[in-house]
Amino acid sequence: MGKDKLRKFAEIDTFPNVYQLHLGKVMKGKWASEHFKNNNPVVLELACGKGEYAVNLAKLFPERNFVGVDLKGNRIWRGARTGVDEGIQNLAFLRIQIEDILEYFAPGEIDEIWITFADPQPQESREKKRLTFPGFLEKYRILLKPGGRMNLKTDNDGLYNYTVEKVEELNLITHKNTNHLYQSEFADEVLSIKTHYERIYLKHDKNINYIQFSFS
Ligand SMILES: C[S@@+](CC[C@H](N)C(=O)[O-])C[C@H]1O[C@@H](n2cnc3c(N)ncnc32)[C@H](O)[C@@H]1O
Repeated sequence: MGKDKLRKFAEIDTFPNVYQLHLGKVMKGKWASEHFKNNNPVVLELACGKGEYAVNLAKLFPERNFVGVDLKGNRIWRGARTGVDEGIQNLAFLRIQIEDILEYFAPGEIDEIWITFADPQPQESREKKRLTFPGFLEKYRILLKPGGRMNLKTDNDGLYNYTVEKVEELNLITHKNTNHLYQSEFADEVLSIKTHYERIYLKHDKNINYIQFSFS
C-alpha cells in the first residue's frame, strides 16, 4: 500500500466523525441522539466515495444529519477531513460494506437515501452487487421511515434502466425521473451538486440520469 493511503488510513482512525466496522454498530438506532446529539432526521449517502453529496447537503441543511457510507477508507478520508477542518457538525462517515447496512442503522431510523454514481456492475453474474438489486432495496425499505425517499444519480444508462425496471416491477412510487438531469426541470441547487465521478463523466458530455422513488 502507498504511503499516502497508509497516512489517510491512520488519520481516519483519529477522526471523531468516522466510524469503521464494529465501532459503527454501537450507533445503531442512536445516530441522531448519541453521535449528532440532536433529534434531527438522518440522511444517508451510499457509495459516497469522497462524500461530496454528504458534505454539500450537510452545509445546505444544517437541521438534518448526514452519514456517508463507503468501504474505501482513503476516499472517505476526503469528506471526513473536510468535515473536521470546516467544523461541519451534522456530518459523519461509516466505513462498511453496504450489504451489512442493517447492522448499523435501526428500522425506520433513516429519512432519505442518496446513491451517487454507484459501480454499475454490468455483468449479469454481478447483478446482486448492484446497489438497486431487489435484495438491497428490501434493506432500504426497512431503514426508511414511511414515505422516505430514495435518490439515484448515475451516469450509467444500464444501472439507471435496471433501476427504473425494478421500481416498476416492485410497484414503488416514482416522484422524479429523467435521463437528462441538466436538461430537465429538476436541476436545482441540490441535484446540481457534483461528485468526483460526475465531474469526470460530464467532461465527456455524458448525460446524467436521476430517479427519485419511495416505498410508500
Ligand atoms: C464509482 S465510485 C463513486 C463515488 C462517489 N459517489 C462519486 O460519485 O464520486 C463507487 C463507490 O462505491 C463504493 N462501493 C461500491 N459498492 C460498495 C459496497 N457494496 N459497499 C460499500 N461501498 C461500495 C466504492 O468503494 C466506491 O467508492
